[in-house]
Amino acid sequence: MKIPEDVLAVLADQRTVIDGNRVRIGLELERDLYQRVDKILKEAGGKWDGRKKVRAHVFRHNVEDLMHHAILAGEFVSARDLGWFPTPPAVVEEMLRHASVSENRPGLTVLEPSAGTGAIAGPASARGAMVDCVELDEHRAAALTERCRPNRVVCGDFLRLDPLDYQQGFQRVLMNPPFKDALTHVDHAIGFLGDDALLVSVLPESVIWRSDRAHTEFRQLVETSGGTFVSLPTDAFESVGTRVRTVLAVLPTGELGALRTHSWHRSRPRQAFLFDL
Ligand SMILES: C[S@@+](CC[C@H](N)C(=O)[O-])C[C@H]1O[C@@H](n2cnc3c(N)ncnc32)[C@H](O)[C@@H]1O
Repeated sequence: MKIPEDVLAVLADQRTVIDGNRVRIGLELERDLYQRVDKILKEAGGKWDGRKKVRAHVFRHNVEDLMHHAILAGEFVSARDLGWFPTPPAVVEEMLRHASVSENRPGLTVLEPSAGTGAIAGPASARGAMVDCVELDEHRAAALTERCRPNRVVCGDFLRLDPLDYQQGFQRVLMNPPFKDALTHVDHAIGFLGDDALLVSVLPESVIWRSDRAHTEFRQLVETSGGTFVSLPTDAFESVGTRVRTVLAVLPTGELGALRTHSWHRSRPRQAFLFDL
């Protein structure tokens, strides 16, 4: 849900207090503008509580992360809108820990292939990683560029990028892809991994039990490459407005060569050429 410019200015104003599950507008507004701010906050799930000690829009959950990313992107998250759910800080910390992205290892090359407004890319950059981002939505890509100053931002469809457009594979892929085609995104992202690299992805919990071929094969891939699934708390994404259950998939490239990584892609044209001969 896009937020009109003047409403956005009110939400971003220093006098607007966003505290836990409450949003309190601390400025005097013209009636028309107030009504539009009120409408947007209600559409986002807030309810006006006019009691003297509250006088705020109250949400059912903490909205600090949600509002932070909404102000950056000029829109509220919506399941219909390319599946944008910013990753909450606690989940990002868990991802960075599993990927060993820290100040102790500056210069790690990281790909974030569906980067949103940079909930993962920002903290990874802040710890000294060289983060390349891809994001389809141009507003989010612009917010991401301004906020996280990544190594590079491509505004476009990640699924259409060719791993061979990158000279080398990345040491890490960190991602929280749109859940609608999460496995397609992860499968494509594997092609951007260098040797001795690691992919960490947020995925819907159903990835560990769905019995269709794609999910079964993905679990086999995780197992043969020595990877694992890590459970996340059931309310891990509640602060950004969804109760979807999630896990982390941790996928090392391993020594068995089970994954179609960057090296695998690089070897293909040569093999095809030899075959033609
Ligand atoms: C679940 S959100 C996660 C955003 C970010 N990774 C984070 O953790 O906050 C998924 C993001 O993928 C973007 N997206 C969807 N399809 C995409 C595609 N084909 N290529 C690149 N980005 C895409 C959406 O615009 C959205 O910002």
